[in-house]
Amino acid sequence: MALIEIKDLTKVYKSGRSTIRAVDGINLVVEKGDFLVVIGPSGSGKSTLLQLLGCLDKPTSGEIKIDDKEVNRFSDARLAELRQNKLGFIFQSFNLIPTLTARQNVEAAIAKRGKGDKNKALEVLEKVGLAERADHLPSLLSGGEQQRVATARALINDPEIILADEPTGNLDSRTGKEILDILKNLNREKKQTVIIVTHSEYAREFANKVVEMRDGKLQTEKI
Ligand SMILES: Nc1ncnc2c1ncn2[C@@H]1O[C@H](COP(=O)(O)OP(=O)(O)OP(=O)(O)O)[C@@H](O)[C@H]1O
Ligand SMILES: [Mg+2]
Repeated sequence: MALIEIKDLTKVYKSGRSTIRAVDGINLVVEKGDFLVVIGPSGSGKSTLLQLLGCLDKPTSGEIKIDDKEVNRFSDARLAELRQNKLGFIFQSFNLIPTLTARQNVEAAIAKRGKGDKNKALEVLEKVGLAERADHLPSLLSGGEQQRVATARALINDPEIILADEPTGNLDSRTGKEILDILKNLNREKKQTVIIVTHSEYAREFANKVVEMRDGKLQTEKI
């Protein structure tokens, strides 16, 4: 059984008279332990696809099955529970709270979740190699370090699936590769499934599966 199965997934945006098929009839299977990279130019629908996968938005039509369950049919409460227990999100802009240290940023996410131990903050910061800088404010951290804090924050619930939207978009390629290395290690060691959408070509080398997206459609698949 596949971890995620997407069938004929479509998301249409209507604004005024124009209609945009941001995601246009996508079919895709993600197995447990995959490191999937979705690569495509700006406007190709990558973020929209990731939002649908992360159950942050609802499709216009089509279905997404996670663990063989059709998530489109879930109530909002059940979707929130799924996000809290199974998914971890990383974004291009690190979204850190500037007045809190690295550790406090992670602790705040743990507190917000309402579950779990604050001590987990240091544990996840260790996982991303940032334990020594845990007491620094974001402004005193490099871009790569800030993204590591954001990555640590995504790990507080030991997510089975890590979803990342342009996690390297604000980083130079060397620093970007360090972030991808961290995700690759989690993927290898903990069998966490990683799905990244990006326009960074170098992300390909970390993937076991690459799909290309253009105008809302998937082009090719290499395994
Ligand atoms: N909320 C929205 N309302 C209307 N149109 C939208 C909305 N969100 C996205 N779109 C449109 O859908 C298309 C796909 O957008 P999306 O953000 O998914 O692309 P992307 O591949 O993530 O681009 P980028 O690489 O620039 O982040 C674009 O044409 C965009 O303008
Ligand atoms: Mg995007």
